[in-house]
This record gives sequence, C-alpha cells and structure tokens, in this order.
Amino acid sequence: MSEKRYLLIPAAGVGERMKIGYPKQYFPIASGKTMLEVTVNRLSEMGFFDQIAVVVSEQDSYIDQCRFAGDVLVLRCGGQTRAQSVLNGLKAWALPYNAWVFVHDAARPCVEKDSVERLIDALEAPEIDGAILALPVTDTLKWVNSEGIVERTIDRSHCCRAQTPQVFRRGALIAALESAREAVTDEASAMEMQGARVKIVEGSAANIKVTYGDDIETVKNFLNAQNSKGQIK
Ligand code: CTP
Ligand code: MG
Repeated sequence: MSEKRYLLIPAAGVGERMKIGYPKQYFPIASGKTMLEVTVNRLSEMGFFDQIAVVVSEQDSYIDQCRFAGDVLVLRCGGQTRAQSVLNGLKAWALPYNAWVFVHDAARPCVEKDSVERLIDALEAPEIDGAILALPVTDTLKWVNSEGIVERTIDRSHCCRAQTPQVFRRGALIAALESAREAVTDEASAMEMQGARVKIVEGSAANIKVTYGDDIETVKNFLNAQNSKGQIK
C-alpha cells in the first residue's frame, strides 16, 4: 500500500501585481469558477490526495463563497510571505510528522495530472528528500549587475524553472522553513539550505503561475485546450 499524500495550497497572497483590487485567487477564470476553485477541484479530481487544505489569510472574506468538489480543510492562518503561509499551514494541520505534503500555488490552475503522477512516481527513488516539478530553460541566461550591465552568461544546462507542486516530508519542511533566514520563494529553496536532495521532475508549459493581468488570457487558453482534449474539467 502506498503512503498517504496530503496537499497544501497556499492562497493567502494579496495578488499585488495583478492589480484587480482583490486577491487574484478569487478571479473567475472558468464558467464562474474562481482560480482557487479550479486549482483545488482539478487536483482533488485527480484522486491522488488523501486530504487537501487551503491556507487563507485571517481576514479573507471570499473563501466562504467558494464551492469545492470534495472536502477541503480551510486554514485561516496565512502569513506575510508565501513561505510563512506554508509554514503556518503545516503547523496548523495535524498530520503525521513524516507525511508527504505536496505544496501547490493557488495561482497555478492549469497543473496537469500527468505531471503530478510523475512527481508521485519520483518519490519511489531511494535517497531523496523530496521532488519538484520544473522545466528546462530555453533562453540564454545572463547574470546582470545593479546597473543593468551583463557580467556573465550562466550555463543554462544546469538551470531549470521551478514550478509546483513541490513535495517534502512535513517535519523536515517545517524545520527547513523555520531555519530559512532569507526570504525563500519556494519550499525547495528552504530544503536546499539544509542540504536536502531534491529531485527534479518534468513539469509542463501549461502550469504557469498567474502573476500579471495578461496571464489570465493565457490561462484561459490553456484551460480551453485541456478541456477540449478531455483532460480535465
Ligand atoms: N501566497 C500566500 N501567502 C502570502 C503570499 C502568497 O499564501 N503571504 C500564495 C499566493 O496566494 C499564491 C502563491 O502563494 O497562491 C504564489 O504567490 P504569488 O504568485 O506571489 O501571489 P501573491 O503574493 O498573491 O501575488 P503578488 O506577489 O503579486 O502580491
Ligand atoms: Mg507574492
């Protein structure tokens, strides 16, 4: 029997860069469903997770209107940063110390079942502490100084773009996030600082993080294309 899997969705951001006046996770993106509902429902319908929890801010006045496809635990303990929201959520959720927890951004509503399946399979590998979805970098990468002048070119064959879900053991992730002194923008960064072995698993181009207003159109196109392939509702 395989181990239980838990999914934590940080959704406590304010969506400043989207400039819509309310948090982007509540933007309606598909037949009246908000981005958060689409993200949660499709992950829930994949059938891989034993329990799903969403972290929202204490003052959130939108979450009660959400209608999710399955049972979702709402944790009202968001923090000032994404990392703090994830840490607060992990601590508030009484799960076994060593449980695998998958963390996925509410702002990535196009995540695909194949990718999540690959991520789950990767956990079978020996001697890894976790795994993340990522994509290769295709542009040439430049290291630029504060005056906007290129200092050097980075070997892109060693680079990739990290996505979510990212999966780690709950206890190890709590410890890593607690000791990460500088701001970390994903779970893997905190784990790397502890010397953890993080396996890279191929993600997909559709799994973008909605950040700016223009991304909405892109996401709608991906959702339509996925729907017409019968991939996901
Ligand atoms: N997030 C969170 N708590 C925070 C900040 C972010 O739970 N304090 C969540 C967001 O809701 C989102 C994910 O982390 O699902 C990725 O963060 P990001 O795309 O940066 O979202 P926002 O922080 O809301 O956007 P912005 O940075 O433009 O304000
Ligand atoms: Mg942010």
